[in-house]
Formats: sequence, C-alpha cells, structure tokens
Amino acid sequence: MSFNKQPRQILVTGANRGIGFLVVKKLSETSSVDETIILLGSRDVKKGYDALRQLNSPSNVFVLHLDTSSNESILHAIEEIKQKHGGYLDVIVNNAAISIAEITEDSARQVFATNYYGIQFINEHMTPLLINNGRIINVSSQVGIDTLQECSRSLQEKYTSSELTQTQLNELVEDFISSVRTNNLENLGYRTKPDWFVYGVSKMALNALTQIETRQWSARKNLLCLSVTPGFCATDMTHFATNARSAELGADSILYVINTPANQLESGGFYRDGQLLTIS
Ligand SMILES: NC(=O)c1ccc[n+]([C@@H]2O[C@H](COP(=O)([O-])OP(=O)(O)OC[C@H]3O[C@@H](n4cnc5c(N)ncnc54)[C@H](OP(=O)(O)O)[C@@H]3O)[C@@H](O)[C@H]2O)c1
Repeated sequence: MSFNKQPRQILVTGANRGIGFLVVKKLSETSSVDETIILLGSRDVKKGYDALRQLNSPSNVFVLHLDTSSNESILHAIEEIKQKHGGYLDVIVNNAAISIAEITEDSARQVFATNYYGIQFINEHMTPLLINNGRIINVSSQVGIDTLQECSRSLQEKYTSSELTQTQLNELVEDFISSVRTNNLENLGYRTKPDWFVYGVSKMALNALTQIETRQWSARKNLLCLSVTPGFCATDMTHFATNARSAELGADSILYVINTPANQLESGGFYRDGQLLTIS
C-alpha cells in the first residue's frame, strides 16, 4: 500500500440537490478522506452548505461555489481548487443543467449557457488541473439522442461528423439560437416539439462536444471523456414525475462511469446503467 498517494479528487457540478447531490452522498459514504475527496459544486453557496449539512458534513466533502453558466465563476472556482484543494482533479462530473420549456431566444441562451457553453468552458479551463488518466464525464440525456434522430439527415450528418470542430459546433449552436429568434428552425432541419425541445438540442450539442473532446484529449494526458445519462428520474427537473424511476438509480448510472476502471470503458462512449449505448 502506498501512503504517499493523494486521494482521488472529484468535482460534481450542480450537486446541491437532485441527482448530483446523490452522487456526492454515495461517493462520500463509500470512501474515506484518504481515498476520495468530493467537491460539491453549487451556484448558491448557502444551498451548497445546506446540502453539506444534510450529509452530516462528512470530512471528505467540500463546497465549491460554481455557477457553470458564468465564465468568471468557473475561473474563480479554478483558483479556489488551486489554493484550497491541492490544484488537481481526477474526475470532473458536468452534472449541472437546466430545462426551459418555452422556445424563445432568451430561454435558448439560458439553457445553452449552462448545458453547453459552461461545460465547454469548464472542460477547456479545468483540463490543466486533471491528472494523467483523469476523466471528464458529461451528464447527458436520451432526449439528446432522440432530438438528433428527429432532425433532417443533413443536420444529423453535421452534428455527428468525425471532422466536426469546436468552432463549427459553436456555429451550429449559434445558427440554432438565431433561428429560434427568426422562427426558421424547420428550414434548418430541426423538428420542434413542446416541453423538452431546447433542452434536447442542448444535450444533442453536448453529445457532439463529448465526441470532439474525446478526439482532442484522449491523446493528451490519456484523458477519458464520457457521456452518461441517469435515465428518466424523479427530480425537480421532471417535476417528480410519477412514472419516473428513483434519482438514486440515476446517481448509480453516473457512479458507474466514475468508478469503473478505465480499461473497461470506451472513450467517447455514452453510458446508461453500466451499458454502452449507441449514439446514432
Ligand atoms: N432527472 C432526469 O430525468 C434526467 C434525465 C436525463 C438527464 N438528466 C440530467 O441529469 C443531470 C441532473 O439532473 P437533475 O434531475 O438532478 O436536475 P435538478 O434536480 O433540476 O438539479 C439540477 C442541479 O443543477 C444545478 N444548476 C442548474 N444550473 C446551474 C448553474 N448554472 N450552475 C451550477 N449549478 C446549476 C441546480 O442548482 P440550483 O439548486 O441552484 O438550481 C441543481 O443543483 C442534468 O444534467 C440533467 O440534464 C436528468
């Protein structure tokens, strides 16, 4: 046994409630402070400390103030990790997300700020903190896959091209948001539907981002980039739908990709309940 080994350090964003909170809870219950330290990301510090108290303030959980829709907040959190938490991460779990049912430019901007651009900025700027063989876990959704399948063939090909760059993906996203404003979505190849449409496009773009990040970073530091869905779970996001499964099961789906040895996972893979799913 090595006594010099630093504990595994895991950041979970949006962890003050819902599935992210349960991921932190289960991680802290199954490991000691010598093994795993968990940074509980919360955009509202007070809610973060309330969540910590709900966990009975375990010694291996620390609140990290992090609004994932704000570049300034992300850069501030990076400084805090450097100053208070040893300046390294083993795993980033991009769990924070929002859904807004209405299809307006303003709601699309808000949803993409958290579900897409924030994750892109976190991954770009926190990658230097990741250890060799570290992992980036982007929490996605089946809704992203379904939304892609409903798009025109030409749009599907753009989002899934193995040559798609981050700049081109950002252009696709900006075209999407502009066409929400100009009411031109159908001409661009999107099929609108109520409730989960904007959220679905944000997760569809996130899936494409994970593929780009996999191509970019697998070679660098041997990082593992993964997508995972918790499945349809009873949380605030789904208004605790009575036909949804428990948030605990959703957390287990995410814990699988956090804890499974890298050689048993496929880089760029999309997982649910320990199973590798096909994206397109
Ligand atoms: N629930 C499902 O059925 C389901 C299905 C598929 C995928 N997912 C995905 O699973 C993840 C967790 O979902 P959930 O059901 O647990 O959602 P939730 O209950 O609505 O919780 C969302 C969490 O994200 C935080 N958050 C939102 N915007 C943020 C921001 N800008 N910065 C930092 N934190 C932010 C919220 O903080 P506040 O308390 O401050 O609002 C909250 O802690 C999401 O990525 C979601 O898309 C969920």
